Amino acid sequence: MRLQNFLLLPSLLLSVVPVPAQQPVAQQPVAQLQIDTAKIVRPASSGLYGLMTEEINHSYEGGLYAQLLSNNTFRGNWMSVEQWGLVLKGDAQATTAVDPKDGPSTALPNSLELKVTGASPESPAGVSNPGYWGIAVRPHTTYTGSFYAEADPGMSPVTLSLIADQTGAVLASSQVTLSGSGWQRYAFQLRTGQLESSAQNHFELTVGHPGVLHLQLVTLFPPTFDDQPNGDRTDLMEKLEAMHPNFLRLPGGNYLEGDRIKDRFDWEKTIGPLVDRPGHQGPWGYWSTDEFGLLEFLDWTQDLHIEPILAVYAGYSLKGEHVTPGKDLEPYVQSALDEVEYVTGDVHTKWGAERARDGHPAPFPLQYIEVGNEDWFDRSGSYPARFAQFAEALRKKYPQYKLIATAPVQEKKGDAPDVVDDHYYKSPEQMFALVHHYDAAPRTGPKVFVGEWATVSATPTPDFGDALGDAAWMTGMERNSDLIKLASYAPLFVNLHNNAWSTNLIGYDAFSSYGSPSYYAQCLFAAHMGDAIPQSSLTGVTPSARFFYSVTESRKQRVLHLKLVNATTLAQPLEIAIEGVGAGDHAARVYSLHGATFAATNTLRHPTAIQPVQTTLHFNGSELKHTAPALTIEVIDIPLR
Ligand code: AHR
Repeated sequence: MRLQNFLLLPSLLLSVVPVPAQQPVAQQPVAQLQIDTAKIVRPASSGLYGLMTEEINHSYEGGLYAQLLSNNTFRGNWMSVEQWGLVLKGDAQATTAVDPKDGPSTALPNSLELKVTGASPESPAGVSNPGYWGIAVRPHTTYTGSFYAEADPGMSPVTLSLIADQTGAVLASSQVTLSGSGWQRYAFQLRTGQLESSAQNHFELTVGHPGVLHLQLVTLFPPTFDDQPNGDRTDLMEKLEAMHPNFLRLPGGNYLEGDRIKDRFDWEKTIGPLVDRPGHQGPWGYWSTDEFGLLEFLDWTQDLHIEPILAVYAGYSLKGEHVTPGKDLEPYVQSALDEVEYVTGDVHTKWGAERARDGHPAPFPLQYIEVGNEDWFDRSGSYPARFAQFAEALRKKYPQYKLIATAPVQEKKGDAPDVVDDHYYKSPEQMFALVHHYDAAPRTGPKVFVGEWATVSATPTPDFGDALGDAAWMTGMERNSDLIKLASYAPLFVNLHNNAWSTNLIGYDAFSSYGSPSYYAQCLFAAHMGDAIPQSSLTGVTPSARFFYSVTESRKQRVLHLKLVNATTLAQPLEIAIEGVGAGDHAARVYSLHGATFAATNTLRHPTAIQPVQTTLHFNGSELKHTAPALTIEVIDIPLR
């Protein structure tokens, strides 16, 4: 897991403000918080916070995955070719259809057929694509793309263009000469000049001569994060970096399981050249091309310098189908073993060599393998036996990895999971009530991975009330992070045009993105997480008050991280006594996230209405008087001498 950088969030997240003059405010009675930094009561998991999402709400296609064209493998419906319109300029004449029998590969046996009966260079015919609810076009930018085509002689060249929806203005254009016969791949670039950035644009592919043109796998990319080929959207990757994650749980979620067994995340079909990926029906209402496949998930972890937590399909799908343990399950267990080899094997192994052929010779780091997802939904009761069968095979070949179970399993000798995955989607009130849920949990069994959790009341992204619920819950996870080793909020992403899940951390459209108040709470908590829990106690706050705290210590760096969550409308004055802070003057850094009401929030138009503010708190000796403002989440870093 990656080392915590708890020093500072990137400056874009923080504004530094002068300390305001003290105003009389309505407040609770003074409470006392005592911390003894010399008495460590438990270890803390400095790698607690990570990421989890899946292909939901157009998280990848139309989200993180930077490819701009929708339905770029030409799925048809009963009416037409989804997303693709017919372009007829002047007196051009043409028709389009899906040809199910002519494609560039076995995986993509279909194509879009453009039959041009009349066209000239002045009156071209072709097809257009609106992107994912628009295409963001920016000035002085190079877009790269490619397509597969099979064309009648004499149709060359093909013109590719970015066009403004409202005016029809050509924002960038280039031509590709078609060569030879049969299916060929062609690459192109589109370079914009001076223009005003917007997302109200579309893509056109046209020809100026009659004939029949077959097209498949048309791609268009803007510059990607770190200029990675087949890469990711920069604004979203930067937002993830600022979350200081330690891991990515992949590939889901329901997306791992699929509605039916045939719709599972069948990892072998998601690797290799894009043209060899058939795609599959996702469980969230749309098709996945799998152009963002297993290796792209792994590249994503590499780009963020974090580790994957690999969830393997375990023989249960969402609509109730399951694979009977024993002989029937064997191919699925073998597939999981192969998948682990693809992720971690060296180039002399079968699947390590395959990964090298796919462009990544170096194995990826791995510590955890999760067997299935939310298998408590499997009413057949087959999970304990399925888990046992996977566990036996995985532990035999890979004893070094820890296994995560997603539902209770019989703990026969050798079958016990190392970790169990607990999920929580709750209202703010329920989250406040759950903060002490793990305080008395037994420490003798498996560790806990809170693999999905979120306070859910607002949509499409959490409001400040949800952020308070999240922050309160995080204090509970931190206090118990000897037991809870890993935690990931879910889901991470929502394209605002496809809100399939109520509450999601980061919202975006084709053009821009924003972090919700909960996003900023996560950034703060993860960036300031210690590796030890010192003894502490809080008195003078009624148990029913919505005031929460956690305290962890980064022992090597000698910093105490105090988190205060005041979910009431009254300020909470505190007398904080810190044993071991050292004599003399101290300057603590305070990161503060405040919302005027529970309903206050961020939006695309007001992306940083609520964001952290940084101040400095000076005090002398070991006693500090501090008032936690109403409706505020605070992280206070106190240097120890
Ligand atoms: O995060 C959304 C969904 O919630 C996940 O796919 C599933 O695991 C859970 O039910």
